[in-house]
Amino acid sequence: MWNADIYNLYGKERLQPSIDLSNRIKSSNKNLKRILDVGCGTGMSTAALMDSFKDAEIIGVDLSKEMLQKAKESIPSIQFIQRDCSQSLADMGTFDLIFSNAFLQWIPNQEEFISNSFDMLNAGGIFAAQIPLFHEMPANQCILKSESILSDRFENTKNNMIFHSVSDYYNMILSHTDKIYMWITEYYHEMCNHKKILDFLKGTALRPYIDRLNEEEQNIFMNEVLKNIEKAYPCQKNGKVLFPFRRLFLIGEKD
Ligand SMILES: C[S@@+](CC[C@H](N)C(=O)[O-])C[C@H]1O[C@@H](n2cnc3c(N)ncnc32)[C@H](O)[C@@H]1O
Repeated sequence: MWNADIYNLYGKERLQPSIDLSNRIKSSNKNLKRILDVGCGTGMSTAALMDSFKDAEIIGVDLSKEMLQKAKESIPSIQFIQRDCSQSLADMGTFDLIFSNAFLQWIPNQEEFISNSFDMLNAGGIFAAQIPLFHEMPANQCILKSESILSDRFENTKNNMIFHSVSDYYNMILSHTDKIYMWITEYYHEMCNHKKILDFLKGTALRPYIDRLNEEEQNIFMNEVLKNIEKAYPCQKNGKVLFPFRRLFLIGEKD
């Protein structure tokens, strides 16, 4: 289950990639009339889109009722719809921009999703996504190592997120267009202490673990993850902890 309040705790850090991606699209000076924000969550990515494309009709879709509730409260003027976006969204019509920030890694059929998105784009339309490269980060190892202390609880279960290589994502888009723009940004989040990194992860990567464990198990597991985070991320001279976060950006423009 997604927890909108915990997710929004690090709003500033989670919003910046959507601002960066929508600004890049804005710089192409296209007249985008209809935009779909897939996996819109609490509406942070939707707000960034609204800011960049003031005249466009923007629709947000997400599977989580709780996240959508928060989105509706924060931006009442936008239409937010509950949908499983791993399934076809073709009945929603066509769009000039299909945008997803930190969503793709949560669905198993990413290639099919990209293909369906291109089918739903108008000529000249844009597919845009940001994917956190979490599997490459020390924080991922901190979580995976911690599984051993409650190994019986994680038997036959996998972390929910699925990441493909940069080359795989390139090839998935290449099947639909050769106008592709890709880049990686590493954001350095300045955290007051290691516990803040743990809190950040509770909003996303640790969410599948929280769902599987009872309260007592959660405490044991979180303490172990925190110990590993303390070893992996050194304190700086001012006592703060730098938390580097790598994110992959993808843009494909339909002919
Ligand atoms: C990390 S959040 C990103 C939210 C938002 N785009 C942002 O930038 O803050 C990922 C979102 O994907 C949604 N999600 C995961 N699987 C989904 C699915 N199958 N269909 C629709 N939404 C899904 C979750 O509910 C969650 O709100």
